[in-house]
Amino acid sequence: MSTLPNDVRETSETSLADAARDHLWMHFTRHSTYYQGGHVPVIVKGEGPYIWDDQGRRYFDGLAGLFVVQLGHGRAELAAAAAKQAEELAFFPIWSYAHPGAIALAERLAHYAPGDLNRVFFTSGGGEAVETAWKLAKQYFKMTGKPTKHKVISRSIAYHGTPQGALSITGIPPAKVPFEPLVPGGVKVPNTNFYRAPEEFKYDEKAFGLWAANRIAEAIEFEGPDSVAAVFIEPVQNSGGCFPPPPGYLDRVREICDEYDVLMVADETITAFGRIGDMFAIKRFGVTPDIITCAKGMTSGYSPMGAMIASDRLFEPFKTGTNAFLHGYTWGGHPVGAAVAMANLDLFESEGINNHVQENEGAFRRTLEKLSDLPIVGDVRGAGYFYGIELVKDKDTRETFDEDESERLLRGFLSKALFDNGLYCRADDRGDPVIQLSPPLICDQSHFDEIEQILRKVLTDAWSIL
Ligand SMILES: Cc1ncc(COP(=O)(O)O)c(C=O)c1O
Repeated sequence: MSTLPNDVRETSETSLADAARDHLWMHFTRHSTYYQGGHVPVIVKGEGPYIWDDQGRRYFDGLAGLFVVQLGHGRAELAAAAAKQAEELAFFPIWSYAHPGAIALAERLAHYAPGDLNRVFFTSGGGEAVETAWKLAKQYFKMTGKPTKHKVISRSIAYHGTPQGALSITGIPPAKVPFEPLVPGGVKVPNTNFYRAPEEFKYDEKAFGLWAANRIAEAIEFEGPDSVAAVFIEPVQNSGGCFPPPPGYLDRVREICDEYDVLMVADETITAFGRIGDMFAIKRFGVTPDIITCAKGMTSGYSPMGAMIASDRLFEPFKTGTNAFLHGYTWGGHPVGAAVAMANLDLFESEGINNHVQENEGAFRRTLEKLSDLPIVGDVRGAGYFYGIELVKDKDTRETFDEDESERLLRGFLSKALFDNGLYCRADDRGDPVIQLSPPLICDQSHFDEIEQILRKVLTDAWSIL
């Protein structure tokens, strides 16, 4: 007779999907779906840009897991690096101690980062890195004679993570309301969705960018420059559907931050490590921030790892006396994560991943742009291997779907239909309805074609059910 507790015995006797429904609390998930006959998709294996479910069906991983698996699934070199490190030193904290993996990775990230961003604080993910950056900004100004600077400016619909500070920086009201009151001091400004730019800038992206950047200066003036510590910006904003920065936008943000002594934080949780064809996307746009936050692609997902990278100037006050940044995470700089990140970055170099993205990003864009002939496709936008396709009800007027239509289209039809047709990607309604694509960086034209063909079929079907 089994000695397992009932629940565990049940798991082995019923399907994985049923056990997931009954015990696994999935993130950002409407669990009711699975109590109304929906089947929890269970992914059991990955190889290159493909994943397989527990029924043996293959899917194209059009989102690199969650903007993570840069080098694709099933890379034995990365698994081996993790195993080797776990055997040698599985864990040691970086609280007043160091270990070779964290040292080597910090040095390497500082080398890749622009300007004098030389100081690396490890976290276990992006939200913790954002949280860390805000705390650093507050403490830095307290230590340097500007103690009232504490607020953060960020952009509408931007996602910066779920810790309560990071959530306060996040610009997605429905994700925040259940947890209010959040950390005070989060101020929102417009994002750079050129497709939805105010009428007067509809045909002038540069003027739109200048207008959007100047809203930051306006917010600083309104809040009081003495109260504002930082501006958080993704070089290409994810949420809302991949908004690239208009020409000159990031330069103007840098100028405004300098003018008001406000720190510029590039949240590169998604955009770093090749997603936009460079180790850090901000370098491709020619701007040096004061802080970079990053995570996801650093290990291609073979182990969790995040980081905040700060400039020499921000570390300076911490070099003297009894000063310390009283902040940390048990898993920050985990030896296994650090070893995997080093092996991952070695492969980036030996396989020329950033060059591959730069050489193929045009083909990716052109392939997705073919979908513009469909009546439901309003806009195709993005950069590197990071694209959003905005869906509209009327292409000429750019009319979007109302809440009910959006619910029916995205949740009722598209998410499932895309998956059933073999494409895992994101159909999202944070902002206007979009489909988001962020394939592994090893992909080439044959993969782009595969994505395009599945999208063409499913979006054509979607139009017919509206
Ligand atoms: C820009 C940005 N910041 C922060 C986060 C939060 O990262 P994590 O989920 O690792 O905490 C994300 C996650 O997608 C992100 O895209």
